[in-house]
Amino acid sequence: MEVVVVPTKKDGSEIVGGAIADLLTRNPAAVLGLATGSTPLGVYDDLVRRHNDDGLSFAQAKGFALDEYVGLPAGHPESYRAVIQREIAERVNFAPGSVHGPDGWAADIPAACTEYEEAINAAGGIDLQILGVGTDGHIGFNEPISSLASLTRIKTLTEQTREDNARFFDDDLSQVPTHVLTQGVGTILRARHLVLLAWGENKAEAIRATVEGPVTSMIPSTALQLHQHATIVVDEAAASLLSDREHYKWTYENKPAWQGI
Ligand code: GLP
Repeated sequence: MEVVVVPTKKDGSEIVGGAIADLLTRNPAAVLGLATGSTPLGVYDDLVRRHNDDGLSFAQAKGFALDEYVGLPAGHPESYRAVIQREIAERVNFAPGSVHGPDGWAADIPAACTEYEEAINAAGGIDLQILGVGTDGHIGFNEPISSLASLTRIKTLTEQTREDNARFFDDDLSQVPTHVLTQGVGTILRARHLVLLAWGENKAEAIRATVEGPVTSMIPSTALQLHQHATIVVDEAAASLLSDREHYKWTYENKPAWQGI
């Protein structure tokens, strides 16, 4: 695991945008794992800038969203399908039909989950997965006690997560769905590079546990410790509870230039 501590979320978003640009330059048909929430928005802005100014192309790339609510009306602006379209897919040149998400409207939910896993595998697997983290350590919508081997399936949100996400639903908890579809922790661990981002003090405890705590399904983000190539990009506030923070900074500042993140 590598921990990159940056002064601001803009700095972190540019580092991640740069890593995605490098990936697309090496492999224009790369498969990107796209996350929702407020955390990755700066990365998407950075990618749009690189697309507009530098000609970064997504024409051959594919995208897979991490998760989706169950029970929202089709086309709801806060459905993750709509968010991913609005925040990144429509702003760059993904080919029509190349950005996918779990089908929270399916009549047969288990079949839709199996099909989603198959679609990721058929695309060759995810090359780089962007992740945020919930205050309880959830990744995607894998809430505490999610199996570390889990695949895409239906989950029930915790009250904490529903409260955290109420801001996207007019601060009205009753509008926040109770159920979701999410890539499993096992699905996420199959991606070739995991890049988890966190900004601000309210993520500091989740980041401490993710990086320095024991691996436990009670805090699903700790599963990143099992991955061969996991990068944690955090601002100073999110890094504030890391006991070895200075060592991580020194390591990043002194790594070989060719290595990237
Ligand atoms: C949401 C999403 C996660 C996201 C997390 C943090 O519920 N399902 O993918 O990482 O919560 O959200 P935010 O980035 O807004 O803090």
